[in-house]
Amino acid sequence: MISLRNIKNLNFDSIPIDDSWNTGKNTELKMHRIHAYPAKFPAFITTKALSYAKRERIKVKRIADVFCGCGTVAFEAKRNDVNFWGCDINPVATLIARVKSHNYQQGRLKNYFDSIISTYSSSYKYRGSYNEANERIKHWYERKPFHELSRLKYSIDIALPKRGKYRLFFFCAFSNILKSASRWLTKSIKPQIDPEKEAGDVLTGFKDQCLFMMNANHESDAKEISSTEIVTRNFLDDTIAIPKVDMIITSPPYVISYEYADLHQLSTLWLDFADDYRDLRNGSLGSLYHVYKFEKELKRLNDTGSKIVFRLLGEDKNKAKYVAKYFLDMQKAIHKCYEMLSEKGLAVFVIGNTEYRSVRIDNAKHLAESMQSSGFKKIYITKRKISKKILTPYRDDRGCFTTDKNGRQVYAEEFILIGRK
Ligand SMILES: C[S@@+](CC[C@H](N)C(=O)[O-])C[C@H]1O[C@@H](n2cnc3c(N)ncnc32)[C@H](O)[C@@H]1O
Repeated sequence: MISLRNIKNLNFDSIPIDDSWNTGKNTELKMHRIHAYPAKFPAFITTKALSYAKRERIKVKRIADVFCGCGTVAFEAKRNDVNFWGCDINPVATLIARVKSHNYQQGRLKNYFDSIISTYSSSYKYRGSYNEANERIKHWYERKPFHELSRLKYSIDIALPKRGKYRLFFFCAFSNILKSASRWLTKSIKPQIDPEKEAGDVLTGFKDQCLFMMNANHESDAKEISSTEIVTRNFLDDTIAIPKVDMIITSPPYVISYEYADLHQLSTLWLDFADDYRDLRNGSLGSLYHVYKFEKELKRLNDTGSKIVFRLLGEDKNKAKYVAKYFLDMQKAIHKCYEMLSEKGLAVFVIGNTEYRSVRIDNAKHLAESMQSSGFKKIYITKRKISKKILTPYRDDRGCFTTDKNGRQVYAEEFILIGRK
């Protein structure tokens, strides 16, 4: 672990891999796998960060994850009886995170499950007409899976109370089977149709998914002692009520990486989070669709940010604009993190670098400089290897993960930056 004093002269590539952050002692609980989520980080990052805080003698009563994604930190906080506050702009992320934050009675899950299946079996009439469906839904679904999904959604709606955690549980299960029932090219991070694909059977997929989630709930050793609050908001929005916390563990989105709104469009459309999934790109950090006054804002970029944006300007002005916007947003986010920490509180950020047309986009160095200028002290930085199981390091032309070394290489390591208030 390297103590960060002079960022300008530090070559981040030369930072050695710290094996202790590469793997965890125990296999991850099933609860961490109840729903696919891109860029989910491994659960042991939270465990290791908490041990680090203990060594630093920080009494952690409340943790925040300000980009909480599918709730990896939320679930681990609950397992450690620590209060949690989480925020994510993506309603699909907060749905999954909320489900992970609750405990469920197995008997009630089984009863609701039986009730959904019996409603499904008895409601032969199609729910919703294919011809009148949202155009984007028709783009992804053949008539048959569309009707089966409509019927299933109706059955969940009827069988579950209108509010409450059990409803979230079954809609989370529904959300995770939407891709396999669609024409979406399997394992692709780009939304594209696979003309050859045969959609999976909806009811079988749902039953398997519910069974897996019920087993995950049964296996979970988390007690619901601590309090959890998860909000679906833009963390940069100045109107959110943000609590004071002793520790932040988070992994911000990387620039030029995932377009979360696009990747979750099936769930967004089916669960009525938006009529047009593209609306959810607004405010999402790292999205390539932001419009803003570029020249006016440029002078607020920190040193690392300015240098990268300047190099990108020579390659592609539009990309340079998006990257500049991302860096400015990140500067604000890091400042907000500093503000929400209690005195001597600790922040742990996990971030990787990206590349565009041979320009290295050093997100980690930019983040380190943002931490320093926000007031963070005792900044340490280390590097970890991303497990091959989690991320196959190559992508083919269609954006699918591949082991073919001729593919485009994806970052295989990421940085952990730790700072104190
Ligand atoms: C790298 S992922 C976090 C993954 C998380 N650690 C997990 O294990 O699931 C980054 C998250 O930031 C969220 N995000 C992007 N822009 C945001 C914003 N302005 N406010 C809050 N969340 C945002 C994305 O939706 C995404 O879920």
